[in-house]
Amino acid sequence: MRIDIITCQPELLASPFAHSIVRRAQDKGLVEIHLHQLRDKALNKHGQIDDAVFGGGAGMVLRPEPIAAWIDELRAARPYEAIVYLTPDGGTLRQPLCNRLSLLSNLILLCGHYKGVDQRIRDEYVTHEISVGDYVLSGGELAAAVLVDAVVRLLPGVLGNEESALADSFQDDLLAPPLYTRPAEWRGRIVPEILLSGNTPKIEEWRHEQALARTQERRPDLLA
Ligand code: ADE
Repeated sequence: MRIDIITCQPELLASPFAHSIVRRAQDKGLVEIHLHQLRDKALNKHGQIDDAVFGGGAGMVLRPEPIAAWIDELRAARPYEAIVYLTPDGGTLRQPLCNRLSLLSNLILLCGHYKGVDQRIRDEYVTHEISVGDYVLSGGELAAAVLVDAVVRLLPGVLGNEESALADSFQDDLLAPPLYTRPAEWRGRIVPEILLSGNTPKIEEWRHEQALARTQERRPDLLA
């Protein structure tokens, strides 16, 4: 998979991609992540990429030309199946969409800044408008980091068997059950006996009941 990210703050994305599972996926050649500085396509030598909102109002909007220049250049080199704009007014990112995005070969992520991007960029190019939650971030970069992490860990070969993504919360519309490790007793708190029994079918049954109860209590919307 190849992911191209258009941003005016590539520094914000360097660290999330330089460690842990996303780093390992790149090292194994399972994903290529390319960061593109929006200012490289600035309108003038002052590095201008934004402008005031037509109609008045506070804040700046990213101009269409620098973004279009990057997208056109990328699309001339290869076909992209999705061009995602990270924005708080997009649809919420959920596991099924992560699963679908993980099947793509080439993906562009566009990070907004200031008040966002000119609407005509959304109309002309964007295939998916995605939010990572009902709160406003200072830009799309941290949202892009969240999306990349959630998608890359699903690519075949990224996680080992032990870490398999199939057992994650949300993969079966249930939250994960409680987990325990050694010691079997800690500060007077004991691990549920069933987990020490070695009876795998009973343990699976217990985990499913726990997952169901936790989902019912915390996220009944997932069961609806
Ligand atoms: N940019 C700013 N806030 C965001 C959010 N919640 N999700 C995606 N992109 C954003």
